[in-house]
Amino acid sequence: MEPINTEMKKILITGGAGFIGSHVVRLFVNKYPECEIYNFDKLTYAGNLENLKDVESKPNYHFIKGDIVDADFVLALFKEHQFEAVIHLAAESHVDRSISHPLEFVMTNVIGTVNLLNAARAIWNCSKDRPVPTGKRFYHVSTDEVYGSLGADGIFTEQTSYDPHSPYSASKAASDHFVRAYHDTYNLPCVISNCSNNYGPNHFPEKLIPLCIYNIKNRKPLPIYGKGENVRDWLYVEDHARAIDIIFHKAANGSTYNVGGHNEWTNIEVIRLLCRIMDRKLGRLEGENEKLITFVKDRAGHDLRYAIDSTKLQQDLGWKPSLQFEEGLEKTVDWYLANEEWLHHVTSGQYQQYYTNQYVNR
Ligand code: NAD
Ligand code: DAU
Repeated sequence: MEPINTEMKKILITGGAGFIGSHVVRLFVNKYPECEIYNFDKLTYAGNLENLKDVESKPNYHFIKGDIVDADFVLALFKEHQFEAVIHLAAESHVDRSISHPLEFVMTNVIGTVNLLNAARAIWNCSKDRPVPTGKRFYHVSTDEVYGSLGADGIFTEQTSYDPHSPYSASKAASDHFVRAYHDTYNLPCVISNCSNNYGPNHFPEKLIPLCIYNIKNRKPLPIYGKGENVRDWLYVEDHARAIDIIFHKAANGSTYNVGGHNEWTNIEVIRLLCRIMDRKLGRLEGENEKLITFVKDRAGHDLRYAIDSTKLQQDLGWKPSLQFEEGLEKTVDWYLANEEWLHHVTSGQYQQYYTNQYVNR
């Protein structure tokens, strides 16, 4: 195992106001007080600074509102702050939105990523004629969806060929290719991880699990695409944040790691389990919430099954998931029930005022 790289003290995290990004920012701000953490986020509909209320006044936390698609802004920012490392999570992340608005995914996920690569390359002075700079890192956070769809058997390893099917996964695959190309062409010190489906606190309620938690609470229909037979491999978001920390500090330049929890569930199994947990927690009759399940038209190009083999990460770097799905789902439901205000602010749109109130007027 490589020694931990502790040289990087000025770290840019993109997309830190989003679901996974906010957990990564919190972990880094609290665990590494000697590091300056810069959260760079456009605050799209998916960005919510209320996710970071508990760390916003820490002296090593800084927020920068901006768009990674704006190349001049990105380069100026890198020149001003001379970041030593980037953890890149900013993205358009919802598959259904990519089907209705594919170009936004190309802009943010592809062009935005290339802008960040160009800026890092410029300030770190990277080229094939020079050795790979030490104490620098560009960490690109990607998805298992780049590998495409599995049948009943098989598992995605780091060697699986890319075969994306949705505009979202195609844009993430393209961004991964650019990151590898910059490593190979310019000696940019890059690392990539490809993770399976995350769930947990602060998940935006357009995605399956938080949407159904919200709908169960409000006795609304639970929309299940097709027959609910599609399989996803679920990982608790804090386990992903821990994996990102380990990969960021320990992985070799140019390497790729799969991250996943070996927690395969069909969508209908997930929602039935959620209904049972919430029958109990809301004091409803057993089976009451299941009556809300409604089968609806399938997603176009819907990938049947994802399953991630994270053996390399476990064996090389010693990471393993801490929670089984049943336990993690209970914790997630508890969080949503205890954080009604967060959910209300998101569903009413009030969360978008938080930036104005907390930052602009300060
Ligand atoms: P999210 O949609 O919750 O958050 C994305 C964040 O990026 C938001 O804060 C948003 O404001 C910001 N952003 C979007 N466009 C931007 C732009 N042009 N400039 C600056 N900021 C911008 O996403 P998430 O679910 O937290 O996913 C984070 C990353 O992890 C993504 O790259 C995604 O592809 C990847 N990923 C997600 C999952 C998952 O299950 N959610 C699994 C594997 C990988
Ligand atoms: O695998 C990692 C990916 O997981 C990430 O890269 C994406 O950013 C993230 O959004 C997630 O993608 P999915 O499409 O798998 O997540 P979503 O929550 O949208 O859907 C999960 C499954 O549930 C999928 O099979 C589609 C289905 N679904 C989804 C919604 C929103 C429904 O049946 N009904 C719904 O209303």
